[in-house]
Amino acid sequence: MASSQPMLCGSIAGRPGVFGVAMHTAAFQALGLNAVYVAFGTEDTAGAVAAMRALGIRGLGVTTPHKLRVAACVDGIDGAAAAIGAVNTLVNDDGRITGYNVDWIGAQRAIGEAIDVSGRAFAVIGAGGGARAIVHGLRQAGARVTLYNRTAASGEAVAAALGASFGGPPQALAAAERCYDGLCHATPVGFHDAAAQLLPGEALTAALRPGAVVFDAVAMPPRTALLAAASARGFRTVAGVRMQLHQAAAQFALYTGRTPDLAVMERALAQALARIAGEGDER
Ligand SMILES: NC(=O)c1ccc[n+]([C@@H]2O[C@H](COP(=O)([O-])OP(=O)(O)OC[C@H]3O[C@@H](n4cnc5c(N)ncnc54)[C@H](OP(=O)(O)O)[C@@H]3O)[C@@H](O)[C@H]2O)c1
Repeated sequence: MASSQPMLCGSIAGRPGVFGVAMHTAAFQALGLNAVYVAFGTEDTAGAVAAMRALGIRGLGVTTPHKLRVAACVDGIDGAAAAIGAVNTLVNDDGRITGYNVDWIGAQRAIGEAIDVSGRAFAVIGAGGGARAIVHGLRQAGARVTLYNRTAASGEAVAAALGASFGGPPQALAAAERCYDGLCHATPVGFHDAAAQLLPGEALTAALRPGAVVFDAVAMPPRTALLAAASARGFRTVAGVRMQLHQAAAQFALYTGRTPDLAVMERALAQALARIAGEGDER
């Protein structure tokens, strides 16, 4: 059976990031585990899974462009990944590779830091893997969810599959008459573009109750134009990096069977963010 020494974990992405390396490495060290984490940049999904098998890599985070196509390469997927229709984590148990989705846990915990989600009404924008994980997390926590998406057909299908309603295109939020306690944005608009914003700030005021929470899944830059507009209007905000932190903690538990020290991971994430800001490089 293939194995590695030290234990090897990592991630596969078209564009490898720095946050996973920082958080997992710090958490391994804090627990004294003999393990390393490497962010692999690759477009070859099947090749990466074959390498995981051949080299005995214990765990891999999975992100764009692999999240949808990796399911075809593994030996099984867990219930949440099946419900969400995307895999963001692979675990190798003695050669058997299982696909999990812990993005929904990350979203649920991140949003749950700002608001008690149960019984609340949320609007979610987007119908991709990120939005689906957020809807699943909110639904599991007892929220009512209305999904908004540019393309009606995919929006309606995702909403129906996950127990949400479909509200129309994102612009329809301007007519929502302050009926939401929270709004979650999960499209690529604003990613690596601090000025881009899908919704005008007035739409937030029109759709949200006073004191509502706005979550932007876009993690880079950490303070997006949407979050800036939301806090300027008095809404609480949750940054996409909080979802990354909590989903990384859930991955760590799957890889090691141990609960990581969240404060250690949080500190490593903050240092990585500060380093990027210092370099003027919005990864
Ligand atoms: N923080 C985290 O841990 C985390 C985790 C997952 C994802 N994310 C972020 O969430 C965002 C979404 O990622 P994803 O993987 O779900 O899928 P994606 O492929 O990046 O986004 C697909 C969705 O975005 C919509 N969309 C794309 N461009 C749009 C535009 N210009 N105007 C309106 N809608 C647009 C699409 O609508 P149509 O159906 O009409 O095409 C579709 O619903 C990304 O920014 C990603 O980085 C963050």
